[in-house]
Amino acid sequence: MCGIFAYLNYDVNRERRYILELLFNGLRRLEYRGYDSAGISIDADAFSGVGNGNGHVTCQSPLVFRQEGNIENLVKSVYQEVSATDLNLEESFSVHAGIAHTRWATHGEPSPRNSHPQSSGAGNDFLVVHNGVITNYEVLKQSLLRHGFTFESETDTEVIPKLAKFVFDEANEGGDQTVTFSEVVLEVMRHLEGAYALIFKSKHYPNELIACKRGSPLLLGVKEFAEEQDNGTSYNGMKFISKNGHPKELFLSSDPHALVEHTKKVLVIEDGEVVHIKDGGVTILKFNHGKGKDGKSLSRPASVQRALSILEMEVEQISKGKYEHYMQKEIHEQPESLTTTMRGRLIRGGSSKKKSVLLGGLKDHLKTIRRSRRIVFIGCGTSYNAALAARPILEELSGIPVMMEIASDLLDRQAPVYRDDTIIFVSQSGETADTLNALEYSLQNGALCVGITNTVGSAIARNTHCGVHINAGSEIGVASTKAYTSQIVVMAMVALAIGADTISSKQRREGIIESLLNLPGKIREVLKLDEEMKDLARSLISEQSLLMFGRGYNYATALEGALKVKEVALMHSEGILAGEMKHGPLALVDENLPIVVIATRDQCFSKQQSVIQQLKARKGRLIVMCTEGDSAAVCGGSCRVIEVPLVVDCLQPVVNIVPLQLLAYHLTVLRGYNVDQPRNLAKSVTTE
Ligand code: F6R
Repeated sequence: MCGIFAYLNYDVNRERRYILELLFNGLRRLEYRGYDSAGISIDADAFSGVGNGNGHVTCQSPLVFRQEGNIENLVKSVYQEVSATDLNLEESFSVHAGIAHTRWATHGEPSPRNSHPQSSGAGNDFLVVHNGVITNYEVLKQSLLRHGFTFESETDTEVIPKLAKFVFDEANEGGDQTVTFSEVVLEVMRHLEGAYALIFKSKHYPNELIACKRGSPLLLGVKEFAEEQDNGTSYNGMKFISKNGHPKELFLSSDPHALVEHTKKVLVIEDGEVVHIKDGGVTILKFNHGKGKDGKSLSRPASVQRALSILEMEVEQISKGKYEHYMQKEIHEQPESLTTTMRGRLIRGGSSKKKSVLLGGLKDHLKTIRRSRRIVFIGCGTSYNAALAARPILEELSGIPVMMEIASDLLDRQAPVYRDDTIIFVSQSGETADTLNALEYSLQNGALCVGITNTVGSAIARNTHCGVHINAGSEIGVASTKAYTSQIVVMAMVALAIGADTISSKQRREGIIESLLNLPGKIREVLKLDEEMKDLARSLISEQSLLMFGRGYNYATALEGALKVKEVALMHSEGILAGEMKHGPLALVDENLPIVVIATRDQCFSKQQSVIQQLKARKGRLIVMCTEGDSAAVCGGSCRVIEVPLVVDCLQPVVNIVPLQLLAYHLTVLRGYNVDQPRNLAKSVTTE
């Protein structure tokens, strides 16, 4: 969804051009989260007075630049505007607070006026960048309209800076300006409902920034931290601004990708917290929920202690390397990402030792999981498909009924969730709003909640009882690829961990473990189909539609393959359970409509052979995915085939999806669409 970023330098000279470029670069790193418009705010001049932080000082109004389209559009327009004025790019600031935003529209079309920063009105007394959604904005807007405010945008965000101005003006009525920036924001927060991460800038509090969050991710990056503070120990907000402890550069971001090139030292901001950056120091205040003693106001916020965390991310992970697109890079790095996913978790065993699985994040909960009445998988989109691919092996090894739930549907139905359920939440980002809401609902209903995410420290990782990280590395392409395969592998390992290690299951279990260990090599082999998939894409370039039929383990492959084609190549594509073909979809079949049939060797193979016969009898235009050497057996040489290496049945979906990812990628490039920024989409859907 949207991305927010801020940069504050303290006691170190930075020129306006440097500050601008730093903000733009932050936005480039966040662009995959939303790319329909962008904006920044910087200072018009250097404020030389010493702010006491109590609203006594006012500097010149901050400048705001907003533009529809991608970040480069914004960059161009900012430099054009700057060159048309007497703003000096070389002007130096020893302290400066800049904020930036890249948008994925939820309320109001992409346009400069709907872009962020949103303003309190003429003079830009308060400016806000926002990631999330304010659900009660209509009520707030009506109230602010009654107080004489006028609105320029259609966004939900605009109520926030206006509310800040209202709070500030009320507090300063009579000219006695004593309210602090954090007091203003704490009061604003009290009125907001929904999910948000916000950064505030104000002309009344020059050289200060405030950020706060509830439900949406937010990180503070700290650079050039004083030596004595730099030992990873915990500290509190006040120590952080101790005399020798001034960080020179501070960053706020909704996403670690915008921080890692500057610093790996971060504070993970938690729900209900307000971060106040002032005079180079940081104070974190916890916003207490519930009413105060008077029944109305909230009790006084407390200062919070927090240790710095170190980002486990390398700059190379966020660059495209030798590839043209992130999606391409992420498809091709699957042998490595799968290796990392399995590292330290599979024990091959010597001649006397048996092969086994070790999942540290689950070990204390395995007994409870084994006693569950049922296991429920919850996820959205690709993550749901990954869970669907893993369902049969979990059912087989655990003997426990496994249900599938799309997060939003579970909530729409308010479906029953029981205390003796184990619910597994699958999410690459760990921040998807629907999945998070389903998690909250399941926690309320007393279920054991397990998280499977790619994002350490994400809301799902933090709020579940236990879980497993998939460790696939940063996924920046909006279309999920390497996370999908790592998710399936993790869930296969979860199935092994939950399932009883009995004599009768020994051979099956060891076969799966052996196959897991060989999987990266098999993916390397299947990636050699790249050119062949490009050629297939060429033959499909002007089709309107593409169907994919799968069953058993590969029903998920059909759904996921179709989702990839749909979302990036902007071609209608539908994944269909082959067993359902005769119950409707067969009516679509003719000699024109291309159909991918997944018919690799497993217990469903003979059924898929008869599906192929039925499709051929109706002159279907078939592309059959089969096991290496099987092409004659599956279609007698009369249809196009994609031959893939054979692995154990439950891991075959990991191999089979790769050619379809490549197909979607090449189709997109050949059709001239943006692979990494598909129309209307963005990574991490943090709104319902
Ligand atoms: C498709 C895709 C989406 C996500 C879905 C859930 O390529 O990426 O369908 O899978 O939005 O996102 P996470 O896994 O972050 O919860």
